[in-house]
Amino acid sequence: MIPGPTPVPEKVLQALSKHPIGHRSKEFQELVESTTKNLQWLHQTQNDVLTITGSGTAAMEAGIINTLSKGDKVICGENGKFGERWVKVAKTFGLDVIKIDSEWGTPLNPEEFKKILEEDKQKAIKAVILTHSETSTGVINDLETISSYIREHNTALSIVDCVTSLGACNVPVDEWQLDVVASGSQKGYMIPPGLSFIAMSQKAWEATEKSDLPKFYLNLKSYKKSLVSNSNPYTPAVNLVFALDEALNMMREEGLKNIFSRHNKHKLAMSNAVKALNLKLFADEKCLSPSITAIKTEGMDAEEFRKTIRNKFDILLAGGQDHLKGRIFRVGHLGYVNDRDIITVISAISNSLLDLGKITVQEAGEALVVASKFLETK
Ligand SMILES: Cc1ncc(COP(=O)(O)O)c(C=O)c1O
Repeated sequence: MIPGPTPVPEKVLQALSKHPIGHRSKEFQELVESTTKNLQWLHQTQNDVLTITGSGTAAMEAGIINTLSKGDKVICGENGKFGERWVKVAKTFGLDVIKIDSEWGTPLNPEEFKKILEEDKQKAIKAVILTHSETSTGVINDLETISSYIREHNTALSIVDCVTSLGACNVPVDEWQLDVVASGSQKGYMIPPGLSFIAMSQKAWEATEKSDLPKFYLNLKSYKKSLVSNSNPYTPAVNLVFALDEALNMMREEGLKNIFSRHNKHKLAMSNAVKALNLKLFADEKCLSPSITAIKTEGMDAEEFRKTIRNKFDILLAGGQDHLKGRIFRVGHLGYVNDRDIITVISAISNSLLDLGKITVQEAGEALVVASKFLETK
């Protein structure tokens, strides 16, 4: 129950175990054609969606180095570990970063983006870069509103990390006119780590013509050129593409609406059960990520608590990162997760709290009653 790598369905594991085929074969081209179509469906877009062999950070870096130039002014939203990563990547490539931050556990304020974008009369800001679902804190940022302000600016590109939001909640790329959207295979896609995806708008492709940052393996123009013939510029992780095909077919079968509502009810079951157990949510309750619930452990070492749950129940929970280590634990409910998993993890947490004398039997029972109520919702 960590927010990635997430559980992998049996069918997908079987697809992984097939013998690899030639990546220039007709059979593989057919696979690229069908996965690309399904990726566009998942992103709700007509834009190109490219598959890169590399983890999510490869897609994040590709988004920056293909659309921007040295010294470009960009806004980076930062309210957690992955927002910090954006700032690091941007600075590594010599971009001039204006940081909009907020305390970890709270969302970015869209009005701060609006103000800076409105004041930019010279249109010096070339991109607004942010994380949609901040995995380190369990916060979801208001991408819909922020992207509407980016559109009003009319020049800046939106470059967004949707690594733990895509395949968990609504990310309508065309409707919100998102220019660059990065995601990774080991999350909502339900396949192992190793592939990342990047959706590129027409405006983003136009920006590639001016971009002067160094790139070779991650030069997206090569990927676009190959995609015309359903191919890849280099040898892709063929078996992960087998798995991707299977996973996307499963997602199509379930349907976007059902996938989103499953994640939403798991989020509600988890967060409300946590409150029934007298624990506090780390993230602001108005902006809980559909994929991860971060829980404070006041008066208790979160690392010890995680260890107990792992040893006693064989359930792996995620810890806090950086200054949050020992202070919070995180429950991932992203991808191939069902109601039974949620009930089981809540029971394991309750049982461990009971052992520690932190809650009563009645409170443990109440948490399950509350969770079951949310799990029954459609
Ligand atoms: C929000 C977010 N962004 C980016 C990444 C980085 O992805 P990767 O570790 O696949 O490079 C992760 C991975 O946990 C993530 O959760």
